[in-house]
Amino acid sequence: SLIPVILAGGKGERFWPLSRQHRPKQFLCLDGSGQTLLQATANRLLDLAGGWSGVWVITASHLAAAVQAQLPELPMAQMLVEPEGRDTAPAVAWATLEVTHHGGEDAVVGFFPADHWIGEPSQFQETLRDAASLAATQPVIVTLGIQPGYPATGYGYIEQGELLETQLPGRPAYRVQRFTEKPNRETAAGFLASGRFSWNSGIFIFRAGVALAELQAHAPEILEPLQRSGVAAYPQVPKTSIDYALMEKTQQACVVPVSFSWDDLGDWNALERLLPAHEGNIEQAQHWGLNTQGSILYNTDPDELIVTLGVENLVIVRDGNVTLIADKQQTQDIKQVLQQLRSHP
Ligand code: GDD
Ligand code: MG
Repeated sequence: SLIPVILAGGKGERFWPLSRQHRPKQFLCLDGSGQTLLQATANRLLDLAGGWSGVWVITASHLAAAVQAQLPELPMAQMLVEPEGRDTAPAVAWATLEVTHHGGEDAVVGFFPADHWIGEPSQFQETLRDAASLAATQPVIVTLGIQPGYPATGYGYIEQGELLETQLPGRPAYRVQRFTEKPNRETAAGFLASGRFSWNSGIFIFRAGVALAELQAHAPEILEPLQRSGVAAYPQVPKTSIDYALMEKTQQACVVPVSFSWDDLGDWNALERLLPAHEGNIEQAQHWGLNTQGSILYNTDPDELIVTLGVENLVIVRDGNVTLIADKQQTQDIKQVLQQLRSHP
C-alpha cells in the first residue's frame, strides 16, 4: 500500500490574477470539471490510500484554511502545516519524518504535486501501484518519466540508465543516470535530441527509511534540524526544492516511463490544451468577440462583459478589481510583472 502526501504549499503565480497569495493555482478549478486541482489530486489518490484516513497533505499556514475548506474529509491530524513555504525539500523531509512516526521506516510514501492535470486516472493508479511495489522491494526513489514534447526549461530532466530487475510484468524501470532540474534552453534541446531523457513528473515514491538515508547523505542541513526540533526548525532550514537538494545528487533514483497524459498547467496557455472544445474561452467567460482568434478569456464576474474586436493571441483575465491583458507568448513572465507590482504598489 501507499501513503500519499500531497504537496499543496506552492505559489502558482503564473495564473495571476486568478491565483492570488491566498488562492494559488492548486485551489483553482481550471479544467471545467467543477473540481479544483487539489480536489482532483486527492480524489485520484483515494483508492490507493484506502480512503481519506490514508491521505496526507502538507501546506503553508496561510493556505491551511483553504485546504480544509476544499478537503473537508481530510483528517486534521494528517494535515501538516508549515509556518511558511520553504520550497519542496523541507516539505518532503518533514512530511517523511512525520509519516515515519506513524507507519515506520518501511512505509511506502508517495509525494504528489497538487497542481497537475492527469488524463486517465485509472492508468495513473495502475502505474502508482507498480511504482509502490517497486519502492517496497528495492531501496530506490521511484520517479515517473513523462515523454518530453519540447525543450521545456521549467521541468526536471531524467536520463535513463540501465534496466532495473523489477519483476513487474510489462512495467520496465530504469536506473536514473542523471537528473537535471530546470536546464537552460540549449541544454534542454540537447537532452531532447539525444532521446535518452524524460521529464520528471514531480511525483516521487519511496520507502520512508530509504528517503531519510538519502536526505542524511545529501541534505543533512535540511534533515537534521527537522529531526531535532520538528517544525520549529523551519525558519533555519534552507529554502530549496527536493529536485536540487536530493534528486540531482542521489544515486538511488530510478524512473518508470509512464503513458497517461499529463499536464503541469504551467500558465494560461495550458487552458487551450485542456479545453479545446471551448477554443480557450471557458465557461465562466462572459465574452462577446468579433474577429477574435486564438485568445484565452477567463472572466469570474457573471455581471461583467468582455467585448473583443479584431484581436488575436491574447490572454484576457478579469477577476475582481484586476484585469490582465497579455500577449499569449509572454504569459511565462507574469512572475516578473508581479515582482514589479509588489515593489511599486
Ligand atoms: N507544502 C509545500 N511547501 N508545498 C510546496 C512548496 C512548499 O514550500 N513549494 C511548492 N510546493 C508544491 C506546489 O504547490 C506543487 O504542488 C509542488 O509542490 C511542486 O512545486 P512547484 O513549485 O510547482 O515545482 P515545479 O513545477 O517548479 O517543478 C517540479 O515539478 C515539475 C513537474 O511539474 C519539479 O519536481 C520538476 O522537476 C518537475 O518537472
Ligand atoms: Mg509545478
